[in-house]
Amino acid sequence: FERQDGRLQRQRLLVVANRLPVSAVRKGEDSWNLEVSVGGLVSALLGVNEFEANWIGWAGVNVTDEIGQRSLTEALAEKRCIPVFLDQELVHQYYNGYCNNILWPLFHYLPLPQEDRLATTRSFQSQFAAYKEVNQMFADVVNEHYQEGDVVWCHDYHLMFLPKCLKEYNSEMKVGWFLHTPFPSSEIHRTLPSRSELLRAVLAADLVGFHTYDYARHFVSACTRILGLEGTPEGVEDQGQLTRVAAFPIGIDSDRFIRALELPAVKYHIKELQERFAGRKVMLGVDRLDMIKGIPQKILAFEKFLEENPDWRDKVVLLQIAVPTRTDVPEYQKLTCQVHEIVGRINGRFGTLTAVPIHHLDRSLDFPALCALYAVTDVALVTSLRDGMNLVSYEFVACQASKKGVLILSEFAGAAQSLGAGAILVNPWNITELASSIGYALTMSANEREKRHQHNFLHVTTHTSQEWAETFVSELNDTVVEAQLRTRH
Ligand code: G6P
Repeated sequence: FERQDGRLQRQRLLVVANRLPVSAVRKGEDSWNLEVSVGGLVSALLGVNEFEANWIGWAGVNVTDEIGQRSLTEALAEKRCIPVFLDQELVHQYYNGYCNNILWPLFHYLPLPQEDRLATTRSFQSQFAAYKEVNQMFADVVNEHYQEGDVVWCHDYHLMFLPKCLKEYNSEMKVGWFLHTPFPSSEIHRTLPSRSELLRAVLAADLVGFHTYDYARHFVSACTRILGLEGTPEGVEDQGQLTRVAAFPIGIDSDRFIRALELPAVKYHIKELQERFAGRKVMLGVDRLDMIKGIPQKILAFEKFLEENPDWRDKVVLLQIAVPTRTDVPEYQKLTCQVHEIVGRINGRFGTLTAVPIHHLDRSLDFPALCALYAVTDVALVTSLRDGMNLVSYEFVACQASKKGVLILSEFAGAAQSLGAGAILVNPWNITELASSIGYALTMSANEREKRHQHNFLHVTTHTSQEWAETFVSELNDTVVEAQLRTRH
């Protein structure tokens, strides 16, 4: 982008997401500890040099005093982050309530139990009001920091109202919205009381993106069936105004994982794990402890496999890293108890005095330990009941250049569309099939493993997060230029 004085300047990107890429912990009245979280979106944008990315989002802490808000704002500014402050009640209604108890399960085709559904229906109006209020607060902060020419990229189901609020401030703003979860069939979306308002708010964006063509198609069908608008190959049209809708499958920063395998800390962990599990095959699950991840199904299938294959009982171990998440939402609390109970039962049943079949960890691992674990794994199990993409499957593949282990992957994860030919695809609801896939993976020939791995490795290393971000932003720039040309003619 050329400035008026002829010098080149990087385009400014305002990345707006519920959660900032750093989490803040208060150390004193005006001092903060900031930790960069390396999620998919953060690493995607870290590697992109074409833009200058600035972040706007919630810092994940409740800061009500003026000194705290000012000092945190200053500390975050050094990381190019701008906080949106939410009080406890708003977090409860918007984040725990509308986002994570209504939209998240619905978009993943998971109905709430009947009694919870009734309670949710009663609190629906106040939660939806909080959702809109928070989206407006985000819009206020974006508007305050917006400079002409910026690209505003809104993320995820937390901020479906944001495109509308932003365009009300300034119809010239370039606004993109990307959904990191699945978008469900219109038959599911239409059960939502606020179905039309949400769709209309998203359609205010210039470009709307999803991980897969199926999700994009579901969104367009919802707009045609629920709003009566016209769906075209480009997107959705309303009175001559086009909102472009397309698929942009995310990837990972694969080089970061490949390079990490050379680090002394990672090599040390690898050696330690190899010694610890010598003589046993290692199976691995890495998930946020979320009901969409199918963790109970995975563990029950492992139990069935051990039940039917006594010879394997002391020759295989399942390491399940279950990262705690959204712990104030009752559904997540119930899931934690359920998983602990199943793991306890299986370890009681098949454990010996010296070994247990399942190592279940309720915490995250640091990056070197995670990479080492991926590298020593023989079989990775991704059993999501629904998942927007699932980047654990990508991370595993990136770390498997020497081992060439097997990926068992749910057909309900977006990643099944890109890694399907290299992975063993499964329906995680079918425990019998899942158990026999475990057997197949553990005994697969080296030749077949090699072929499957090569397919996946090529995909993961060529469809990176950087490429994803660049493609979305350049498509957004083009979409806006095309719209301007159309209105001129
Ligand atoms: C999913 C969502 C993200 C979210 C992440 C962690 O990947 O798509 O938007 O940030 O889960 O969940 P949390 O509620 O802790 O932000």
